[in-house]
Amino acid sequence: MTARKLTTLENRAIAHGLNVSDGHPRMPLTRGQRAIVAELGDLFDQAAKRPFHEIEEEAHRSFLHGLGQHAAPVGTGRLVTCYSSSVAMDITARALAERTGSVALVHPTFDNIPDLLRARRLHLVPVPEHRFEEGLGELPPEVGAVFVTTPNNPTGWVLGAEPLARLAAWCAGTGRVLAMDTCFRGQDTRAQYDTYRILEDSGAEWVVIEDTGKLWPMQELKAGFLAWGEGTRLELAEAFDDVLLSVSPVVLLLITRLAHDAVDGGYAELARLLAENRRTLAETIDSTGLVLKEPDSRISVAQLELPESIGSATDFYDRLVEHNVHVLPCEAFHWARNTDGGRDVRVALARAPEEVRAAAAMLAEVSVRMRADGRR
Ligand SMILES: Cc1ncc(COP(=O)(O)O)c(C=O)c1O
Repeated sequence: MTARKLTTLENRAIAHGLNVSDGHPRMPLTRGQRAIVAELGDLFDQAAKRPFHEIEEEAHRSFLHGLGQHAAPVGTGRLVTCYSSSVAMDITARALAERTGSVALVHPTFDNIPDLLRARRLHLVPVPEHRFEEGLGELPPEVGAVFVTTPNNPTGWVLGAEPLARLAAWCAGTGRVLAMDTCFRGQDTRAQYDTYRILEDSGAEWVVIEDTGKLWPMQELKAGFLAWGEGTRLELAEAFDDVLLSVSPVVLLLITRLAHDAVDGGYAELARLLAENRRTLAETIDSTGLVLKEPDSRISVAQLELPESIGSATDFYDRLVEHNVHVLPCEAFHWARNTDGGRDVRVALARAPEEVRAAAAMLAEVSVRMRADGRR
């Protein structure tokens, strides 16, 4: 049986119940964010008056510099704004398919990444996270690109600066494109070294997808950024032009304001909320048989491993839905071998603390009941 698509399950959670399913931020606005939203009328006035490219460049600079990305290609024409990171991903997949028939992709990762690559007829070779640190020496020669998600969803794993430099040098030396999804980097300072400096110095052809949509509870007012290198010979600008003219300048102005607010304490506040929610989850499931898998992860999701006595992650998910609580079973993250995720569920943490507390209590209760049922 193939795993159910993650977005399909996330949509069920949006429809009803306690939603700790999708990774989009759904906690209450902070005081700073509420003040920014209250200025929306002014942002509309500015959007109508100021040149679009000035507004866009300001958003790129504020967002990327605020995350340590000082060498990002702001103002070069090699950085474009999409409605979402998935749109940037689709453009990347299309451009990669014109170059190669085969891509090495991190395993596990969020399933819409392999799905969008496969939709462009790309053959995928799974690569476990640790191999990006140890070297990809024996990849088949037909693999023309390497794709890595860092921080990775759902594990929170981060590719460090030194392994990235080695990977980029290897890609440059073997003529492979290096593509990166860094959508979760705003949640983990360990991913905020200047990626673009390393990529550009390596001489590799590279593409990076960034995202404002995982950070702030903006009701889907967000953007995905797609950047590429001076020496990258993929037809990304052409593919982008086929898809859209521009995103809303109001959204870009909002991103500029939110990025400044984030640097002035908003990122620290987000990190505190995620740490508090991760701690609540860990404490509530303690001695229920559920285990927090990556306690050191900083991103806005947590994986729990189920005890042997609870059937599969999908069984556990189905029982939770009966109680109106929505998590994600992790099979589909393991896009090449669904069974690898068969004992794990993912819980979203970018929520109000009371929502995570209520969901954690139900996870604990259902786990204890299912274990008791399993022993009968
Ligand atoms: C790592 C990663 N990249 C990209 C996306 C796509 O984000 P969006 O649905 O906002 O386009 C997701 C979705 O959760 C994700 O986990």
